Amino acid sequence: MPDVKVVVLRWGHRPQRDVRLTSHVALASRALGAGGFVLSDAVDEKIKQTVEKVSATWGGDFSFEMGTKWQHTVRDWRGRGGVVVHLTVYGENIQTSDVMQRIRDLGKDVLVLVGSQKVPREFYSPEVSDFNVAVGNQPHSECAALAIFLDRFFLGEALGKPFENAKMKVIPQEHGKKVV
Ligand SMILES: C[S@@+](CC[C@H](N)C(=O)[O-])C[C@H]1O[C@@H](n2cnc3c(N)ncnc32)[C@H](O)[C@@H]1O
Repeated sequence: MPDVKVVVLRWGHRPQRDVRLTSHVALASRALGAGGFVLSDAVDEKIKQTVEKVSATWGGDFSFEMGTKWQHTVRDWRGRGGVVVHLTVYGENIQTSDVMQRIRDLGKDVLVLVGSQKVPREFYSPEVSDFNVAVGNQPHSECAALAIFLDRFFLGEALGKPFENAKMKVIPQEHGKKVV
């Protein structure tokens, strides 16, 4: 796997209706190779608990932060030399353009912005996002878009990566369930 850190920033979480989906975005981030998750501009203890419980049980080193203003996270990330990738249906197509190659070639830490409701206009600007990436130019889901982006970024290797200090570990079986 490339020796860079990927953190996912979820913008626009609505505590009344997005708990399950935002939890899935966070858990998919962790399982597919990201090193951390930022729930920006919102606080939701249920999501924090879910993510921390999964990390404590299944291992790995995954940071969780919430309530931070997105402008602060982006400014800080860029200030430390990282790049920002915004996943949007309007961006450069992940399949038909060379955008993934250009991102991977930089070898820099990546902050991935995903929305839920309509994102602020600034997300599309070069002052915020170095790259606007479309996982196909059809609207679908932040969870699906993120999963495909991470899988391509890590060339599938995150799916075979061991998680350190796990209390529970699945032993893959042809049939049945085995957990140690
Ligand atoms: C379900 S969409 C809703 C977008 C919202 N209705 C709007 O008009 O901006 C929520 C998020 O999913 C992601 N998304 C959806 N389709 C995508 C695609 N084809 N490529 C990349 N990201 C996508 C984007 O991050 C988007 O902000």
